[in-house]
Amino acid sequence: MGLKPATNPDVEAAIIELNIDGKTVTAKDGVSLYDVISITGKIIPAMCYHYTFDPFGSCGMCLVMQEGKKAPVRSCTAKAAAGMIIRTEGEDLFLARKKAVEKHLSVHPLDCPVCDADGHCELQDMAFLHGVTNLANAKQKFIPEDTRSPVLDFNMNRCIACAECINVCKDVLMIDALQFMKKGGFNQVVPKGDVALDCEFCGDCLAVCPVGAITNKFSKYLYKPWQMKKTVTTCNYCGDGCQMYLETKDAEVIRVTSPLSWKNKWGDRSETAKGHGGLCVRGRFGFEYLDGKTRLKQPLVREGNQLVAKPWLEAMHLVADRFAEVKRRHGGDAIAGLITARCTNEELYLFQKLMRAGFGSNHLDSSARYGHLNFVHASRHAVGLGRTPNDWEDLTNAKAILLIGSNITETNPLTAVRIKEAIRVYKAQVVTLDSAVTNMAKLASHPFLIKPGTEGLVIDGLVKATIDQDLVDEETTHKHLQSFEALKAAVEGLSLEQLSSQTGLSTDAFKEIAAMFAESPRSIILCAEGIVRRTNGYQNVLKLIDLAWVTGKLGRPGCGVNTVTEEPNEQGAVDMGVAPEFLPGQARFDDAATRDRFAKVWEASLPAVGTGAHLIEILKRCRSGQIKALYVLGENPLATLPASMEVRAALERLELLVVQDPFLTETGRQAHFVLPACTYAEKDGTYTNLEGRVLRVRQAMDPIGESLPDWHIMTALADAMGCRWEYQSANDIQAEIMKLLPGYYNLGQPRKVTPTPDHYLTNGYIAEVTARYRSMPGSGERNRPFALLMGQLLMHSGKMSTEAPGLIKIAPNTGKLRMNAEDMERLGLQDDAKVRLTSERGSLQLGVQPDQSIAPGTCFFPEHFNEPPVKDLMTVSVDAVTGVPAFKQTWVSIERV
Ligand code: SF4
Ligand code: SF4
Ligand code: SF4
Ligand code: FES
Repeated sequence: MGLKPATNPDVEAAIIELNIDGKTVTAKDGVSLYDVISITGKIIPAMCYHYTFDPFGSCGMCLVMQEGKKAPVRSCTAKAAAGMIIRTEGEDLFLARKKAVEKHLSVHPLDCPVCDADGHCELQDMAFLHGVTNLANAKQKFIPEDTRSPVLDFNMNRCIACAECINVCKDVLMIDALQFMKKGGFNQVVPKGDVALDCEFCGDCLAVCPVGAITNKFSKYLYKPWQMKKTVTTCNYCGDGCQMYLETKDAEVIRVTSPLSWKNKWGDRSETAKGHGGLCVRGRFGFEYLDGKTRLKQPLVREGNQLVAKPWLEAMHLVADRFAEVKRRHGGDAIAGLITARCTNEELYLFQKLMRAGFGSNHLDSSARYGHLNFVHASRHAVGLGRTPNDWEDLTNAKAILLIGSNITETNPLTAVRIKEAIRVYKAQVVTLDSAVTNMAKLASHPFLIKPGTEGLVIDGLVKATIDQDLVDEETTHKHLQSFEALKAAVEGLSLEQLSSQTGLSTDAFKEIAAMFAESPRSIILCAEGIVRRTNGYQNVLKLIDLAWVTGKLGRPGCGVNTVTEEPNEQGAVDMGVAPEFLPGQARFDDAATRDRFAKVWEASLPAVGTGAHLIEILKRCRSGQIKALYVLGENPLATLPASMEVRAALERLELLVVQDPFLTETGRQAHFVLPACTYAEKDGTYTNLEGRVLRVRQAMDPIGESLPDWHIMTALADAMGCRWEYQSANDIQAEIMKLLPGYYNLGQPRKVTPTPDHYLTNGYIAEVTARYRSMPGSGERNRPFALLMGQLLMHSGKMSTEAPGLIKIAPNTGKLRMNAEDMERLGLQDDAKVRLTSERGSLQLGVQPDQSIAPGTCFFPEHFNEPPVKDLMTVSVDAVTGVPAFKQTWVSIERV
């Protein structure tokens, strides 16, 4: 139908006037008449319509009378036009709609008492609204239920053939996993090819199905809608920060639903640029860990080789005494702390306050150290911004998107949906540069496969091609001519031919990408794990900023250099000062005025400048015996870092290891004390998503067992250490943050920020720029034939999702190395073959499986699983500026055994 927003950043639709029920209404020319009617506040029935995708026009409910036409028209598929005279009410329309409902009901099973949609069904609502009482002629279809999918069941007896499921999947998600098929005399929805559904399992089809034809396997027959408590909260799997409804019944989490729903079908089509309200598989089906059997329910205290359950009071006294003792004997410098970015802003703030004001230590870090801090430091250094400059709307409206080192559908699926909308609706040119055949590459206008580890060289080539082709923005570069000359000189010696052979990207491709990026009015760079979690991440972000600068894309509306955050609150962790280099508000830890301000509010003196240790340094000092006590909240370094980091040795050397977590983790098993913490579902607070929106986390259920929110445990610990903290709730902590960081709580709105490159370009740029184009790592490191990559799968997030049975059911650990089918054939490997995988760090045996997303010459193992311990084959390089450890890629040989 092509009814997607009539207005986009380049085309302003004409404003027209039409008459609806006697009133003159203005509207954008060409939008769905249904949208225009609903914007006037009039809601007419519509069972196959949803504003997020194109109208289908099958249900026959949205009928209106248009002057000049004899029969009613379907308002969803009709386009608004100037001068239309429309009537939406009247006996004739009521009867026509009633007839449509009767038609649907005449082939409906009417099994409402056992249907999951009972009480939440549009067909029920419509039957009631139109007084359909005579169902004497209703026929049964007797179609067997399709239960082949791991998460969704399809009951086609209940289907009203509205195609909403098919359309959301094809149109919004661009996955296109469903189709209609004539079977048994009826049009039925089946997975494409009529095989078991194999898709991204986002569940958006379930969300828009207006009846009970698609059901959620995990909650089927467990509830009636009116029995459930619905809590609006923020997903805690990734930095997209999707809003979701956690639905609970008594103490049980029953299901997760989304703002995207058939119930929520009216909206302005251009609003979808900000998001369509759906969820991904993790958000929708990864909830079972919340009240799962493996949750910790009591504090555990080490007695010899065992961890023994103890009452909170006893455990807390012991923990506080032991910390106090370490502090008394060795000073605050002997204590360190690590915290996960799955904690709320309020908890992250409290954690750094506890470490600094309570323990007197500046040895603290969060999971933002695993990559996000590379972006934050580079962006702060070059443009004064410690976060991404663009929001989802900018991304959707972009004309050119350069996606480098990002398997975005796997890491941040809903940000990926924004890029899909940019492609589909706004016709954006999308360039993907990755060493895997990513999902987005399949949709991109310019998909490029590059050799593993050559992302930095690719950026070199793009900057070089931009300058060689004179694609620079004169206005911007003239302002800083000397800096521009320095950049020119830095890339002068580079050869596109050589870069081409190193990266696998042709010289023409370099030139074409550079031209497209420079010439587009709105160009966005999005770099992710392949940049920020890899060697030279910091320098590579700086080079991307160079590219944006010389093409005039820094600070221009809708343009910028961005990243994504993999954990939900990595941005919050940095903003709350959980890093030795930052105080809250990303103030430098050595900034005297800010230190004074915080010291006054906290009524404590801050640790000395220059003493702080980040993650890698903390582990080193644990091994050397300088750090005696470690407080670990939600982090699991033993399961995350490769063996060469000697985490076990570091933990074994400690006098005190306290782990606070909802689960007994590998690190927890080594601890002296394990304190049971609540998940995000059992507490209040906020997360800061990748756009900088501060989003509410709301308590949906009582804490499991005796677990407590992290902020509560920290407050008790601080009090036991004599701090006299008086926080009664997360709100009290928020109030303190509000005072210290006015304006931080922008609840729900992305804060508009503008990069300011001038300072760097006039101070320090010239001295630094040459060095970043001199290093040529990548291909030179190659001394074994295969690149082994570790990374994220769509169905998982860190280790947390492995506690969610639903996600494990969809994506279990196969324990196998994923390889390109051609490589497997070349090595004579069948699907069930075993191989020996050898790197500089060691060797292990495992099975292999073909995977079409794996490029030839590479192999992949999901980072969520440690069985077998593939991560231990990785080498670690630590960024000299940011301290970010890179350990997701190495070179290996693969031999058949
Ligand atoms: S779960 Fe998502 S990807 Fe799968 S069929 Fe439904 S909408 Fe499509
Ligand atoms: S399964 Fe549901 S959403 Fe899909 S066509 Fe049938 S009724 Fe509509
Ligand atoms: S995209 Fe991220 S935040 Fe959204 S539902 Fe999925 S995991 Fe949760
Ligand atoms: S909503 Fe228009 S035909 Fe169904």
